[in-house]
Amino acid sequence: MALRARGIHSIIGGEGESSKKTARQCSIILLLLLVCPRAVNSYSYDPFDPNGNITIKWDLMQLTDSGYVAMVDINNYQLFRHVERPGWKLKWEWPGDEVIWDIRGAEASEQGNCSKYKGQLPHCCLKWPVVVDLLPGTPYNYQVRNCCKAGVLSSITQGPSSSAASFQIDVGNIRYGKKHEVLRPRNFALGLHGYTCGEAIDSDPTKFLSGDKRRKTQALHTWKVTCSYSQFIASASPSCCVSLSTFYSSTIVECPHCSCGCPDGPSAVKFLQFPNDGDSPPPFVRCTQHMCPIQIHWHVKVSYREYWRVKVTVTNYNLVHNYSEWNLVVNHPNLERLTQVFSFEHEYLRNYGPINDTAMFWGIPYYNDVLLQYGESGNVQTEMLLRKDPAAFTFKAGWTFPRRIMFNGEDCVMPPRTSTPAPQLLLWRRRRHHNQGGSGLSPPPRPPLARCLRNLLSCSQLRDNLRRTAYKCLDFSIMPFNPVTCP
Ligand SMILES: *[C@@H]1O[C@H](CO)[C@@H](O)[C@H](O)[C@H]1NC(C)=O
Ligand SMILES: *[C@@H]1O[C@H](CO)[C@@H](O)[C@H](O)[C@H]1NC(C)=O
Ligand SMILES: *[C@@H]1O[C@H](CO)[C@@H](O)[C@H](O)[C@H]1NC(C)=O
Ligand SMILES: *[C@@H]1O[C@H](CO)[C@@H](O)[C@H](O)[C@H]1NC(C)=O
Repeated sequence: MALRARGIHSIIGGEGESSKKTARQCSIILLLLLVCPRAVNSYSYDPFDPNGNITIKWDLMQLTDSGYVAMVDINNYQLFRHVERPGWKLKWEWPGDEVIWDIRGAEASEQGNCSKYKGQLPHCCLKWPVVVDLLPGTPYNYQVRNCCKAGVLSSITQGPSSSAASFQIDVGNIRYGKKHEVLRPRNFALGLHGYTCGEAIDSDPTKFLSGDKRRKTQALHTWKVTCSYSQFIASASPSCCVSLSTFYSSTIVECPHCSCGCPDGPSAVKFLQFPNDGDSPPPFVRCTQHMCPIQIHWHVKVSYREYWRVKVTVTNYNLVHNYSEWNLVVNHPNLERLTQVFSFEHEYLRNYGPINDTAMFWGIPYYNDVLLQYGESGNVQTEMLLRKDPAAFTFKAGWTFPRRIMFNGEDCVMPPRTSTPAPQLLLWRRRRHHNQGGSGLSPPPRPPLARCLRNLLSCSQLRDNLRRTAYKCLDFSIMPFNPVTCP
């Protein structure tokens, strides 16, 4: 936690400045932990996917003179978490001096010291081999079934057929235990942030169906390793936030300020940089008041007699990342009466019997399944039609707003319950009327910050002499940064 906070620093701005900032951020996070200890617990167990895990299955297919041939399968059994490029990197420890003679469908990223061997050398002699997936389009004789996906694993809901990967491994120089049993590899890791793996345990041998489906063969021995995800281990700071608006109120409830970090100081920080985890580039986030890479906007758009319509927009503020196979999980009591969803796919998540109040949404392949990096097309949107439940439907107390939203399995920061727009349409109209009467006392609605921010780096709120609100912004496209006022 402290490590994570320490890693957050600005790329622009002096050393001393950054350590002061770090101290401040740490104390904010500590304060949050003290004030809301529930936040910590809610990360460690996910009620929307209680059985989610990634399983590594190690099937001994055949013993050889000095070792064995095994088929290794990696299955993603998580409902909405997936593995993006650069993908999994399976690492383990050999119990003895095992070597990998050959491998199909994947490769060890380093060979290590094979100087003990003469003639043909093993593929890998490391005590801790690291195996990575091959790319699609690998020559046929290096492939095995279900291989070569560049390490990408879909969630089981989005791609039941692409949520698994396999490789075949020829192990030599194995050591046997006291009862002449083959010793199993240990200390597995997936090389993915937030996942921890257990030990390899014995499992019922896997059965394989022959091509004509008339005969079953089975593995000599099967081990299984279960890896589970914890958002708390993965990242101490959230990565998305939710903003709300309705047709019946002029108030836009923005993402809570500093949801994912703070855009410190008027001129110091331009982007928030997170520590670099492995090979994925650190998120360079566009400067906003929430500093989240992802913002989800929920707009209650229309109320018909029997239905209501909501528009959901997901905006990518990350300047260097395209989210492939992105997904949203939404919890709202009225989703049970979801009638139509435009331009997204959806599926209910049912963990507690047939209660359809939680649904998963994702993009249509080749249309909007990739959420592009920040810019003109860095957003995806949908509209949904929900049937009103006469017993429960109300605009009061924010009933039309979601209870919880997740993006790619990460919890999004919600605005506080108390700040949801109240039905104040009448009030607002009356006020406008009053204004036209010439009193000019109440300020006009705030300018749409999102529009203002399109090309701008950093904005601060201003009030002019007439007490109108405006944003003074630094323009991204003009160097050096020139202040402009918008809209
Ligand atoms: C892993 O997920 C599978 C599929 O959902 C489930 O059957 C299995 O019990 C899970 N394993 C653990 C240890 O939770
Ligand atoms: C490689 O391993 C051999 C023994 O197997 C050892 O003698 C040699 O020093 C090792 N080389 C390096 C560079 O570690
Ligand atoms: C994201 O996708 C766009 C359009 O395909 C491409 O121009 C851009 O380089 C990609 N960005 C990254 C970080 O891969
Ligand atoms: C939940 O949705 C499924 C379809 O996905 C439907 O068959 C089932 O009846 C629904 N359950 C309730 C309680 O509405």
